[in-house]
Amino acid sequence: MAKGRTWRQRKRKVKADPSLFDSKYVHLLKWMRATDNFKPPSLSPRVFPNTGRGLMTVKPLQPGDVLISVPAGLIITTTVVLDSDVSSLIKRCNPPITAQAALSVFLLAERAKSSDSVWSSYISMLPLEFDTITNWETEAVDALPPYTSRLAQKSLKTFYDAYAAISQCCCALDYPYLTSVLTCKKNFRWAWNVVNTRCVYFEVPTSPYIEESGKNCALIPYLDLLNHSPDAKVITEFNKVTNCFEILTLDSYRKYDQVFIKYGPHNNSELLVEYGFIIPDNPHNFYEFSFDTIRDFSTCLDIACFRQKEEILEKYNLKKQLHYLGDAGISWNLQSVLHILNMSWQELNCWESCLSKKEWPPEVLEFTINLVKFIMDKHSSELQLLEPRTQKLKYGEQVRRLWQEEVNILNEMMKELNSEKALNL
Ligand SMILES: C[S@@+](CC[C@H](N)C(=O)[O-])C[C@H]1O[C@@H](n2cnc3c(N)ncnc32)[C@H](O)[C@@H]1O
Repeated sequence: MAKGRTWRQRKRKVKADPSLFDSKYVHLLKWMRATDNFKPPSLSPRVFPNTGRGLMTVKPLQPGDVLISVPAGLIITTTVVLDSDVSSLIKRCNPPITAQAALSVFLLAERAKSSDSVWSSYISMLPLEFDTITNWETEAVDALPPYTSRLAQKSLKTFYDAYAAISQCCCALDYPYLTSVLTCKKNFRWAWNVVNTRCVYFEVPTSPYIEESGKNCALIPYLDLLNHSPDAKVITEFNKVTNCFEILTLDSYRKYDQVFIKYGPHNNSELLVEYGFIIPDNPHNFYEFSFDTIRDFSTCLDIACFRQKEEILEKYNLKKQLHYLGDAGISWNLQSVLHILNMSWQELNCWESCLSKKEWPPEVLEFTINLVKFIMDKHSSELQLLEPRTQKLKYGEQVRRLWQEEVNILNEMMKELNSEKALNL
């Protein structure tokens, strides 16, 4: 039977992706096309079960295909910010503020203009809520494992410093409305998180009004709907011929797959603190040993010349970056610590040449196995204490997952050490 127009229309309706008809995205695409001739990519916004909103490809993609190409006129850089209404405010900040703070101020000022802002189509599709560390309860931050806790404190300090700098610049501002918008901590936190979770590396000229380090960051509409995968392989570049910022994929995708980019080689602690999510079996996870814990463990043993050994480690900056990196093994600094602590007095006098030997003496292997066991026991009692404390917290589950991941990595390390020991027998 011949299939008529009604059948074809019905079929099209069934197959259509409802998100394509979401007015927010339609407006965004229309505005991008009208503003700087944006060519819509073969990607459509969609909400995915495990990753939330992201972009789905509506056609198969091959390595080398362009995922998205955004014209320069649609990119929010600090150059755009310094050319806008908030330029005089930013120029009065001394010392100069960071690009992230400047972009945050710009977003808030534009959001306050509502539909009068030329960027309103972009601003209206930005998330309203974030799960990054600036939104966590203090109790949850305090319960984090030590390495993540250090990252969290650093990140919170950067946020509070930026907020203090902006509040100070606003002091003598002649516009009370803008001042109240910018100095409201909730507002500033929203804008800060938008920039922190969505900005990409984009080179801009040096400016006396923007702090040099980290100045190359920009917000790129639509492109910032792409989610992260540690396995994604992409090339990002500014194409001088087309005057567009482009992302090429080096992966293959089937029609209707979610497409991904890689934000960086981030472990779960970094992802959670800065982006508010974690990746199951993240290949970039590692365990960081603390020298204090190694010292605690060593005091239970009778380590010869411990003070002299620690002096060497201190002098050669070997007490930091003590990592076990899964498949990539044990960091050079951790290997040095483990070996040096187990050296005899004679060996200590020529410790550098002793270190260059490839094999692990049995006493170093045994020391490492016992050290890992000591830490695992410590962590499992810490986890038990954490359970009731974190039960009622909004981010308690994330805290427990991070602790559990630390234990899992140590378990992996223990397995490897034990098979090494079995080989040596
Ligand atoms: C650049 S935005 C990507 C688009 C974003 N999902 C949205 O709805 O606008 C980065 C944010 O997306 C989320 N995200 C990115 N990749 C993710 C993933 N693999 N799993 C879960 N959330 C992810 C996180 O909230 C992150 O802060």
